[in-house]
Amino acid sequence: MTDQPPLDIATHVRSFLDLSDAGGHAIAAMINDAQDRKRARRGWPRGKPDTDRPLEGYVLAMVFEKSSTRTRVSFDIAMRQLGGSALILDSGTSQLGRGESIADTARVLSRMADAIMVRTDDHAKIEEMARFAHVPVINGLTDRSHPCQIVADLLTIIEHRKALPGLEVAWFGDGNNVLHSILEAAALMKFNVRVATPAGYEPEAEFVEMARKAGSTVTLTNDADAAASGADVLVTDTWISMGQAHAEEKLAAMEPFRVDAALMAMAKPDAIFLHCLPAHVGDEVSAEVFEGPQSVVFDEAENRIHAQKSVLLWCFGKLG
Ligand code: CP
Ligand code: NVA
Repeated sequence: MTDQPPLDIATHVRSFLDLSDAGGHAIAAMINDAQDRKRARRGWPRGKPDTDRPLEGYVLAMVFEKSSTRTRVSFDIAMRQLGGSALILDSGTSQLGRGESIADTARVLSRMADAIMVRTDDHAKIEEMARFAHVPVINGLTDRSHPCQIVADLLTIIEHRKALPGLEVAWFGDGNNVLHSILEAAALMKFNVRVATPAGYEPEAEFVEMARKAGSTVTLTNDADAAASGADVLVTDTWISMGQAHAEEKLAAMEPFRVDAALMAMAKPDAIFLHCLPAHVGDEVSAEVFEGPQSVVFDEAENRIHAQKSVLLWCFGKLG
């Protein structure tokens, strides 16, 4: 526990705990900037900085309380390309894992690094980090949401020549953290979401309401075919997220929600398939779809770098 009152300095810095922290205009600016930067450095070595080096000398501290491949590598490479650098703390080898408080960790990291990215379980932990930090705090995934992933997903959708307003996005399987951020994005960017889950695995009502209040149509259904019919984008994710128990009952309930060729055939002919990865091919998606021509999952993975650069630039007040 701390003997000091919350500093609340975080109100003066831009943290990115969820997409709404930035808002629709800033997210549009992030996507534009990501496209420009991606185009400008085509063919360059990945570690070579962009010509303007907008974050020269800046250091990002990345705190991982859960596993990661894409988030970890994309933020590291993003910082290098912006002219800065990144370092990693994981709970197993830092004092966080031995019980040092989030409040103290936030204040120490704020004295040593210019921004903090956190991947953790309970969303309240990242809110606590942002409350005590006096540098930007970025959500690299919590049990509640995964906003950085969705900036990359929106960039991928736009690259595949699909305008966001009015887009029909269909989600299949578990109503999880990634879906929550898709629903939040729908509210901000004005697209519609069909959510096909087994009964009992729906997303949190708060996110559904957020999208509906903003004017998006959100359909909750137990019928995968109905959700896929005429959709522009089909999305799924692992049936068992990090930290969740492996439950045979849940896996059995998810079976009718696998994205396979028959489901894909119900969507628009130019529909694309997204998956944040890691994938469990044969479970939430068939090999035919995952490896098929409509799958853009590796564009999506690469776009984590380009999208995370935009998130960082927004956090440092250099965008939006
Ligand atoms: N999609 C995603 O966040 O991947 P990692 O868990 O590998 O970071
Ligand atoms: N829903 C998944 C996303 C992984 C990037 C999880 O939380 O494990």
